[in-house]
Amino acid sequence: MFESIVKTFTEKYNTTPRIFRSPGRVNIIGEHTDYNEGFVLPGAINKHIWVGIGKRNDNKINLFASDFNELHSFDVTTIQRSSVQWTNYILGVVDQLQKAGYTLTGFNLVIDGDVPVGAGLSSSAAVECAVIYALNELFALHIDKLKMVHMAQKAEHTFAGVQCGIMDQFASMMGKKDHVIKLDCRSLSYEYIPCNLEGYKIVLFNSNVKHNLASTEYNVRRQQCEQGVHMLQQFYPEIKSLRDVNMKMLDEHIAVADPLIYQRCKYVVEENARLLMACDYLTKGNIPALGKKIFESHEGLSKDYEVSCKELDFLVDLVKINPAVAGARMMGGGFGGCTINLVKEDAIEKLIDSVKMIYEKETRLPLTSYIAEIDNGTSEVN
Ligand code: GLA
Repeated sequence: MFESIVKTFTEKYNTTPRIFRSPGRVNIIGEHTDYNEGFVLPGAINKHIWVGIGKRNDNKINLFASDFNELHSFDVTTIQRSSVQWTNYILGVVDQLQKAGYTLTGFNLVIDGDVPVGAGLSSSAAVECAVIYALNELFALHIDKLKMVHMAQKAEHTFAGVQCGIMDQFASMMGKKDHVIKLDCRSLSYEYIPCNLEGYKIVLFNSNVKHNLASTEYNVRRQQCEQGVHMLQQFYPEIKSLRDVNMKMLDEHIAVADPLIYQRCKYVVEENARLLMACDYLTKGNIPALGKKIFESHEGLSKDYEVSCKELDFLVDLVKINPAVAGARMMGGGFGGCTINLVKEDAIEKLIDSVKMIYEKETRLPLTSYIAEIDNGTSEVN
């Protein structure tokens, strides 16, 4: 990838670039908990968005995406949302930097990568993090990583229109090889936990269902959680988010009043509890027990939070009875994308073959699979 970016950049812009990359992510457990100030357990993976970048002497921004073979130009002094969706992840970052008072001049950029888009592996966060990190270096802005994470998240809110939590950008920027990040999304304190899977590996099955419902329904889930908090604040004014809520409160005050809101909040409260147990199991190397929590997480996401879809449910059901699979669930925002599976190393090849055959026959969609290795976060590549 490094060579091909340099080559494209040199051909397009006649100069040599600096090269940066930022990874996609997996999340072991803790889904839809980040914007509820709960916990998540993501790790950066060995799939990246790559950016080649160089300064210009004027105010022009040239963006070239190798995947689309498209070049679009903008003026750095008049940044706004564009009708070309992929450019918004980059322009959104430029906009955030400007809003924070940083002065940028023109630059040339080439973007490429191997994080599949719409697969729930956070390709958009990887773009935002790669770009903000690259601009920070290029213009010597001296912004610290955590601030960049916040700005990248904000770019997603404003230019991509998804009211996402902080998990994806955090994992992409802060990832550490062979470790997952136990992140408290309230305090943003975090701990790197060694991802020792005791002979299991992380296998991703991409349903190849693209989540077009995803951004609207995602924002709806966020609102439903906020509504639950709002309802409970009448009884417990000290409550700030679902992090402060327990099942007793939900049973007493929401179950009857609003069954749908109850279902949503219940999932979040249970998922936080599952995550804490799961971390404990991971630390102790008890992968079968960890896997059980992962299966339970899927059940909650599918039945209570209702962010799964029939293809994802099918993929999880398919591996559930397989003794080589410790756990499986849908991952990320939902409505398509990947399932994450913990699979015994010596059974992976056979499993991939059989799941592919059965899934493709049943759904008439292609199944793609990846073995994810946990990698480092955003960096410059020399
Ligand atoms: C998307 C969002 C994250 C998180 C997950 C669900 O990936 O970007 O912030 O909310 O969905 O866990």
